[in-house]
Amino acid sequence: MSASSPVRPVLPADIKARKGGIPIVCLTAYTTPVARIVDAHCDIALVGDSVGMVLHGLPSTLGVTLEMMILHGRAVVRGCRKAMPVIDMPFGSYEESPAQAYRNAARLMAETGAPAVKLEGGRHMAETIAFLTARGVPVMAHVGLTPQAVNTLGGYKVVGRDAEAAGVIADAEAVEAAGAFSVVLEKVPEGLAARISQQLAIPTIGIGAGVRCDGQVLVVDDMLGLFTEFRPKFVKRYGELGRAADEAIAAYAAEVRARAFPAPEHGFADTAPAKGARG
Ligand code: KIV
Repeated sequence: MSASSPVRPVLPADIKARKGGIPIVCLTAYTTPVARIVDAHCDIALVGDSVGMVLHGLPSTLGVTLEMMILHGRAVVRGCRKAMPVIDMPFGSYEESPAQAYRNAARLMAETGAPAVKLEGGRHMAETIAFLTARGVPVMAHVGLTPQAVNTLGGYKVVGRDAEAAGVIADAEAVEAAGAFSVVLEKVPEGLAARISQQLAIPTIGIGAGVRCDGQVLVVDDMLGLFTEFRPKFVKRYGELGRAADEAIAAYAAEVRARAFPAPEHGFADTAPAKGARG
């Protein structure tokens, strides 16, 4: 961004200031071309660790490494002029101690240029969030369903129904008190998400948490119909790019087999064209 650029990038403090205002729009992005499109329309481009499942074919997010997040983080930062890139801390990169979390969050920020990180966990991560925020690392928290804990949660279930509600509220309050600038509420019942959103002074970003959050996030490949292995109830398909790609690739394969592609206009003549002509 040049000093004279009229485009001002969104920063963590801007997101925090959006509490209760026009809903915050967030999508994941993992590559520069998609980040450019997300940047044109969204406030936040989240480099989610969902990249492991969506782009790398992993069975869960547990196999995602810091190096993968740095590589995809750099690509997304290159594609963002206005929207704020936020990078997920992968499983195993922050849970051990606040010092471990700081070391790896600092690498994510220094090596990608992103101004913030996201990490999963509520009360048990509060000390770490406070440690990071006191040392210049803005943190987006993530409570409710935390996919990195799928093995202890027992699946990708709704979190916060009935007696579980108090725990989710305590988690959300703890990350706010620790200094998180916003919090993702994943797969939390709508009424509970609304109550938390009303109670907290920081914005809540919902995914499967109803319309009364301060913002929404989806996995971009889910909403574009590109990643079709899972279809969670909370995903609305805004496009069918997977089907369009299948049709396009099938047409290409058929034309190659029939020697209909390449056509003469896609090739090069044996003699050089006259000066000024293309080809
Ligand atoms: O990894 C991810 O994409 C996420 C969002 C779905 C919130 O954490």
